[in-house]
Amino acid sequence: MRAGHVLKLIDIVGSEAALRHLNRDGKRGLVVTASLDRTNFHQPIRLWDMIRLESRVSQVWQSSLEVEVRVQAENWFTDETRDIATAYLVFVALNEKTREKIQFPAYQPGTPEELQLAQAAELRKKNRATEGKTAPFIPIEDTDNPVVISRLMTPNDANAQSNVFGGIILSLIDEAGSQVAKKQSLNQPVVGVRQDRMSFISPTFIGETVEAKAVLTKTWNTSTEVQVEVFAQNPNQAEPRRVASSYLVYVKLGPNGRPGEMPPWTPQTPAQIQRAELADVRREIREREEQQQALSLSSVQDNAALSPSSQL
Ligand SMILES: CC(C)(COP(=O)(O)OP(=O)(O)OC[C@H]1O[C@@H](n2cnc3c(N)ncnc32)[C@H](O)[C@@H]1OP(=O)(O)O)[C@@H](O)C(=O)NCCC(=O)NCCS
Repeated sequence: MRAGHVLKLIDIVGSEAALRHLNRDGKRGLVVTASLDRTNFHQPIRLWDMIRLESRVSQVWQSSLEVEVRVQAENWFTDETRDIATAYLVFVALNEKTREKIQFPAYQPGTPEELQLAQAAELRKKNRATEGKTAPFIPIEDTDNPVVISRLMTPNDANAQSNVFGGIILSLIDEAGSQVAKKQSLNQPVVGVRQDRMSFISPTFIGETVEAKAVLTKTWNTSTEVQVEVFAQNPNQAEPRRVASSYLVYVKLGPNGRPGEMPPWTPQTPAQIQRAELADVRREIREREEQQQALSLSSVQDNAALSPSSQL
């Protein structure tokens, strides 16, 4: 299953938790995806797997809240359950008509686990603020020979307020990104393993054409990083709007289904060399954050083991 398809489901299930929280006190409104945190896909989803997505609110601020979405796959024949990914998304509540920001009802974490989750959400908020709404990137030019995917947004892609779901954009990002990775791996299978933290800078509406442009930034042993930029073009406006940009990592699979050697790529132009240097920096940041997350997870597990409720 393509990572983009899973991301689309993650956005749908996540927005349901955000909407339910907004409606809790009878409040009406619309929720839009503001950002998706760095997401790792630990395992592939295979044919005949049944997938299960669970979402819950992790922290609420003013007009925004964070939702945790856990994805698991279950093999129908063996009953084996595997953790596929855990994603964190921020949704913003808007007035349905005016699109002005509105407040979410307050949230009070109850259990020690909820408290830990809320604390981890604060840490992610801090990391997002440090990194800024968009990670530094070098704009993709036509001379970079990008893979370009263009699609008209139809009512199938949007909610009742004509607002295109973030998941549609996430799926398009992966479609463009995986084509670049597949080209580099000489048409051998690739799997998406990471999607970097990203923000939805501008909304997209029905009737607009969305264009995703993707280029390779760097190859390592078995993996490659791809930069994707997304623009929306309103038919009545001259200039397209930037909607989102993201970095994704793909791994090439060998004949045994294990990671296989990715054909190396050498950057040539000054822009390509700079992109490759920034890719190494991002790889270091990802590894550092994974260690940080593993540490905070083990502290959650330690505290859960100590908490009286978990001993019942
Ligand atoms: C999300 C959006 C409404 C934010 O608008 P904005 O003017 O930048 O908002 P502000 O800076 O006033 O922030 C409003 C809240 O959103 C949060 N926020 C804004 N951008 C964010 C981001 N990228 N990541 C996390 N939180 C974000 C802020 O922290 C603030 O939270 P608070 O009120 O709880 O303190 C706007 O960027 C937008 O419309 N984006 C497109 C959303 C969309 O259509 N998604 C689907 C994609 S097709």
